[in-house]
Amino acid sequence: MAYIEVKNSYKRYQVGDTEIIANRDVNFEINKGELVIILGSSGAGKSTVLNILGGMDTNDQGQVIIDGVDIAQFSSHQRTNYRRDDVGFVFQFYNLVSNLTAKENVELASEIVKDAMDPLQILREVGLQDRINNFPAQLSGGEQQRVSIARAVAKNPKILLCDEPTGALDYETGKQVLQILQDMCRKKGATVIIVTHNTALAPIADRVIHMRDASVKSIKVNPSPQNIATLEY
Ligand SMILES: Nc1ncnc2c1ncn2[C@@H]1O[C@H](COP(=O)(O)OP(=O)(O)OP(=O)(O)O)[C@@H](O)[C@H]1O
Ligand SMILES: [Mg+2]
Repeated sequence: MAYIEVKNSYKRYQVGDTEIIANRDVNFEINKGELVIILGSSGAGKSTVLNILGGMDTNDQGQVIIDGVDIAQFSSHQRTNYRRDDVGFVFQFYNLVSNLTAKENVELASEIVKDAMDPLQILREVGLQDRINNFPAQLSGGEQQRVSIARAVAKNPKILLCDEPTGALDYETGKQVLQILQDMCRKKGATVIIVTHNTALAPIADRVIHMRDASVKSIKVNPSPQNIATLEY
């Protein structure tokens, strides 16, 4: 059994008289420790999938099995625990708390779980050892995104979910952030799922799930993913 299995998952919205289908019969599997890219154009249903995987949203139908447990059956209390203990999120616009320093933003996450990592060590690992006492407004976009990755990783999550993590960053800074995410997989064995509309990122992934019109159009497994240092996009 794969580490993550999504089976026949649907998400629908009723807006007035119209039904909008955000996810239609979505099926895929992800193995533990993989770097996965969910690719697709705007409105394809990518964030919907990611939010359902992370317990930030629920599907209407279908199974979402994580490590042998169908989280689609969770009560809202179970979902809260799952979000807190098992999932790290990285967002396009960082979502840091503006009146807390880099270190305090990371502590916000590490303090709520049992087997958290040391905030200072993680900030060092993302290259921010000299910026730990800076506030978000004193950091560049790339530095803020590295704080947000440190915050997500501090909880030692089973899965790290990233929605357009390089969307607000320039090319070089984006590559640095992708490198950190790839290292999280390769060196720490984390399962990392990145949502993007940028097809040029596909070669770095172990698995690429291509979405279109609310459905999965193709799944490609890449036996030899490219190193980010040699990626051009
Ligand atoms: N709360 C909502 N109410 C109604 N429709 C919604 C809602 N959330 C999402 N949708 C619709 O579901 C579809 C999928 O949305 P989703 O956010 O998953 O797309 P996406 O692939 O992440 O797009 P983007 O790349 O623009 O972020 C879209 O058509 C969107 O308009
Ligand atoms: Mg989205």
